[in-house]
Amino acid sequence: MFAKSQRPIGLVTLIFFLFLYPASAADHKVIFDTDFVIPPQDDGLALIFALHSPEIEILGITTVAGNDSRERATSDVLRVLEIANREEIPVFNGANMPLVHEKSDFATTGHGKWWSDAPPPPPPGGFAKKQAETTSAVDFIVKTVRENPGEITILAIGPLTNIAMAIRQEPGFAERVKQLVIMGGAIARLPDGGGNVTPNAEFNFWVDPEAAKVVLRSGIPIILSPLNVSRKAVFTKEWYEKLVQADTPLTRLIKERMEPYYEKYPDINLLMYDQLAVATLIDLTLFKMKELYVDVDINHGLNYGVSVGGERLWPGAEGAQKMQVQYDLDWERFINLYIERMTKPVPARD
Ligand code: BDR
Ligand code: CA
Repeated sequence: MFAKSQRPIGLVTLIFFLFLYPASAADHKVIFDTDFVIPPQDDGLALIFALHSPEIEILGITTVAGNDSRERATSDVLRVLEIANREEIPVFNGANMPLVHEKSDFATTGHGKWWSDAPPPPPPGGFAKKQAETTSAVDFIVKTVRENPGEITILAIGPLTNIAMAIRQEPGFAERVKQLVIMGGAIARLPDGGGNVTPNAEFNFWVDPEAAKVVLRSGIPIILSPLNVSRKAVFTKEWYEKLVQADTPLTRLIKERMEPYYEKYPDINLLMYDQLAVATLIDLTLFKMKELYVDVDINHGLNYGVSVGGERLWPGAEGAQKMQVQYDLDWERFINLYIERMTKPVPARD
């Protein structure tokens, strides 16, 4: 006879556990928050990378104005999901404009069309058949986190407007989020910490500095992937050629969109931003990180949107929160993983 604890597992129990913990269960239940533009733009490549990664289960995609308008973000996401045959992933329209930041001559002549209300251009192959959900991105984020306390990871790779609005909308929201992985900021305290839109400000934080400040101070556990680490990830033509050697609907899309760039600028090297945020959820050991307090300047002056990091709090940063800040990565291991996944056949639906 077996004692109760030694009894062999019964068939019914086995089926119950297999149902509860399927072999393919992803490590992270993710809300993918993005200022999407179709590949080769980095949000587009980051989504394809995530779709090829069994560690990540995307519960929904929420769009935000940033690289282009919110309308374009939504339209381009829907088309990429259609090409990937993953239209079951719901897409939600998020913020159309930052919380406070108004457009300026500088904004309209620089990179990014977050300020634009122009209708989106048709993506390659035309607009997707499926539409966005009627629920707003903020309502979706709030409801998903409320129903899954302590389980949801938010991957935020655009301006943080939607996340700040969710924090403001729902009492107790921050305490219920498992973690936030953010592509944003540039930390002068660490190597390679200059900005990319102003001398010191990174684009995502600069587009919506007030939102970035609310989110960074929210108390949610944060892993920050700033420009410092993106500058270690230089995508050369050699890697592009390896990627497009594979023939899948998604690599064909990348090639169709990328080839004209390489014809015009044969030596162009692209930094990988949002793809590193995705890699954070696949294998955290790829990164070197430092724990720092990080805060954002919301004064409308020279340093609007600049992120500042430090080992200790400093005057003006009272209330800032500590987070893990990436500053280096194992490039060889990362790029091989990236190419291996991006060149696989388009992933099947779960
Ligand atoms: C960030 O800004 C956007 O242009 C990119 O998609 C990335 O998220 C880099 O500063
Ligand atoms: Ca982005």
